[in-house]
Amino acid sequence: MSQQLVAEQYKTSDNLDARAQLHARFSRSTIPWHRWIFDHIDPHILAHGRVLALGCGPGGLWQQNRDRVPADARLVLTDFSPGMMASARTQLVDLPCAPLFAVVDAQAIPFVSTHFDAVTAHHMLYHVPDRAKALREIRRVLAPRGTFYASTVGEDHMREMWELVEPFAPGAIASARQVTQGFTLENGAAQLAPLFDEVQVHRYEDSLIVPEAAPLIAYVRSSLTMLAHSALTAESLAAFSEEVERRIATDGPLRITKASGLFIAR
Ligand SMILES: C[S@@+](CC[C@H](N)C(=O)[O-])C[C@H]1O[C@@H](n2cnc3c(N)ncnc32)[C@H](O)[C@@H]1O
Repeated sequence: MSQQLVAEQYKTSDNLDARAQLHARFSRSTIPWHRWIFDHIDPHILAHGRVLALGCGPGGLWQQNRDRVPADARLVLTDFSPGMMASARTQLVDLPCAPLFAVVDAQAIPFVSTHFDAVTAHHMLYHVPDRAKALREIRRVLAPRGTFYASTVGEDHMREMWELVEPFAPGAIASARQVTQGFTLENGAAQLAPLFDEVQVHRYEDSLIVPEAAPLIAYVRSSLTMLAHSALTAESLAAFSEEVERRIATDGPLRITKASGLFIAR
């Protein structure tokens, strides 16, 4: 996926918000995703260290854990999309601490070496064209005993949803997989291993039970600019929407696999 398409997809937080809505409303896990991620962040680092968030989007992680952010936390929240940074500033206006916000490309991090005790890169490394460069940059700005947190998806993520799309947009399954295949739960550890002494992977146990068509259709629509070869046309999108409505009416709520998790590298 080209950097231009990534920029187009994340010009504002609208597309990401549509996808987050589906997960927030219909996930079966009793622990919401962002709360689960935060459970894995070392509280000592948050209280006493410097933290850099790369590709933080509109800042959902910090917003949904505002009760757990120390007042004197030293956070630098960044994203390469100015629109995302604008949303983050608005959403996080009453965070207990005063983060620094900056537009930053993960491939060229404008901070001195060994400055941070933790770096986060959640659901974003698969979008970075020169990922090896970004990982070297992350290692450079981390203190020698620093920790890197990177969440991502696995190969089966949202499998049944793309299977439903496929007849209306042949190639959709392969195209959706292509978006995230650069850094997945399956291949991420091998990319981190050359740079870190220890790499752990934690899987988030969850799935979706979707009883309404509209939020699922909104999710698919939000992803269309990322699909290289199989964008739905207006007609096929209408036919797909009808099929989703019909399936739910006849078979009941749709069950959709989720595969997501977190790498912790030290
Ligand atoms: C799927 S969103 C994830 C947002 C947030 N981390 C989360 O987990 O909710 C991917 C984010 O990565 C950002 N991004 C993509 N490529 C980037 C790059 N090279 N450097 C920094 N941010 C990037 C996008 O603008 C977008 O906000």
